Amino acid sequence: MDLGKTVCYCMSVTSGMIKDAVDSGANTLEEVQAATGAGTVCGSCLEDVKRLVEYFVSERDKQ
Ligand code: FES
Repeated sequence: MDLGKTVCYCMSVTSGMIKDAVDSGANTLEEVQAATGAGTVCGSCLEDVKRLVEYFVSERDKQ
């Protein structure tokens, strides 16, 4: 996965920033939104943000 890839263009949030938010304790889309702002403007990235949150939470909880 390319952690430098922009997921949310409105807020310039990358995959890596979503991973950092999850690693810092965010567990849900809403918590990642609060931490990064991703998906809080036009909403067109929401499905991608949600998918990444679920992925990073499952990866984090494997360890
Ligand atoms: S691209 Fe994420 S809110 Fe617009």
